[in-house]
Amino acid sequence: MHGMTSSIRIGLIGQKFMGRAHSNAWGQVNRFFDLPRHAELHTIAARNGAELAAFAERWGWKHRSTDWKSLAKDPDLDLVDIGTSNDVHAEQAIAMLEGGKHVACEKPLAGTLDDARTMRDAAKRRKKQHTFVWYNYRRCPAVALAWQLMREGCIGRVYHVRAQYLQSWGGPDTPLLWRFQKKSAGSGAHGDLNAHIIDMARFLVDEEVAEIHGAINKTFIAERAIPTSDASLSGSGGAKKGKSDVDDAVLFLASFRGGAVASFEATRLATGRQNANSIEINGEKGALRFEFENMNVLEYFDNTLPARTAGWRRIMCTSSAGGHPYAANWWPDAHVLGYEHGFVNMAADILRVLCGEKALVPLPDFEDAYQTQRVLEAALISAKERQAIKLADVR
Ligand SMILES: NC(=O)c1ccc[n+]([C@@H]2O[C@H](COP(=O)([O-])OP(=O)(O)OC[C@H]3O[C@@H](n4cnc5c(N)ncnc54)[C@H](O)[C@@H]3O)[C@@H](O)[C@H]2O)c1
Repeated sequence: MHGMTSSIRIGLIGQKFMGRAHSNAWGQVNRFFDLPRHAELHTIAARNGAELAAFAERWGWKHRSTDWKSLAKDPDLDLVDIGTSNDVHAEQAIAMLEGGKHVACEKPLAGTLDDARTMRDAAKRRKKQHTFVWYNYRRCPAVALAWQLMREGCIGRVYHVRAQYLQSWGGPDTPLLWRFQKKSAGSGAHGDLNAHIIDMARFLVDEEVAEIHGAINKTFIAERAIPTSDASLSGSGGAKKGKSDVDDAVLFLASFRGGAVASFEATRLATGRQNANSIEINGEKGALRFEFENMNVLEYFDNTLPARTAGWRRIMCTSSAGGHPYAANWWPDAHVLGYEHGFVNMAADILRVLCGEKALVPLPDFEDAYQTQRVLEAALISAKERQAIKLADVR
């Protein structure tokens, strides 16, 4: 162990789904990674004061507050982590940047491109402060390996990217959570799910999207029951109905600057699919395929092998022997990892950057996540105008 002389003191806003995922990541990272400075779970902030004490106790937060603004003024905090709904990311992130904090924010960067741009600009003005966006799937064992293999040229020139993020929880019985309201979410399955696979595609191909060639934006369920308890995923609906004004599914076609073509599909109504986040990349020398529900496995087709014996190889990405970025920090080979480990791996890389070291796998900052937001916006414009949209025209 390094001598743990100092810590990075963290404040977190939000105590629900991501509040738990992030609290776990900041707690676990010190146990599994040997870093120059450790994460200190300093302050948790959230609106619901009644639940806050138990949350702080359970996850090991020293202090708690129902006033997130107080985190910006707290001289003890180094990094503020934002796990709230998309409509408040900009206000909270900018306040923290102005308070001199490093900021880690959940994805999508914001609900709207205007908010995302304001956040990007605020980050740009503060050169000494770091920003991070939780595109956690970059750090699943198989995706991290795919990234390494692609940088080594294993599939050569990229022809096709086929990305899908399919869920099915958004049927007519699901109440009007914040995720179904434009004012709080910005968009529906699009900003929630396409955001992840756009980031994954840009990250793996290592190129920007140049053009959207066409898109479908579809809302199947226009009214939903108003939930009895605000914003709880399990909250059951009351009798009163409200308008769901976001998409349930968005599909679009795109091309990358280098010429590769891509398809993206996000939906909350893919009956039979629960969290099917997948990407396949077909190149001149080979192909790669990742499916989140089997997140420790990367499929690889080596096109340089003789046709007689060539075939899809199933790689268990848990071995540290070949230099996998994170495997050595976890368990023996094939003692598989789960959803939460992507967040822990990301927390480790954030700490590395704040200690002046390089992230093992590149971390998206506000500028990077703004590029993903431009792709999201271009697809919405393409669907609305029923025409191709060049990314150069969406800023
Ligand atoms: N990286 C991922 O895989 C992933 C997964 C789920 C959600 N997310 C993102 O994380 C963010 C939060 O999503 P979630 O699923 O945790 O939502 P959630 O509804 O489970 O929790 C949201 C939390 O934000 C708090 N909040 C909202 N507005 C607030 C305000 N004005 N002041 C203080 N607290 C406020 C709520 O009280 C709640 O604690 C969203 O941006 C979402 O897109 C990312």
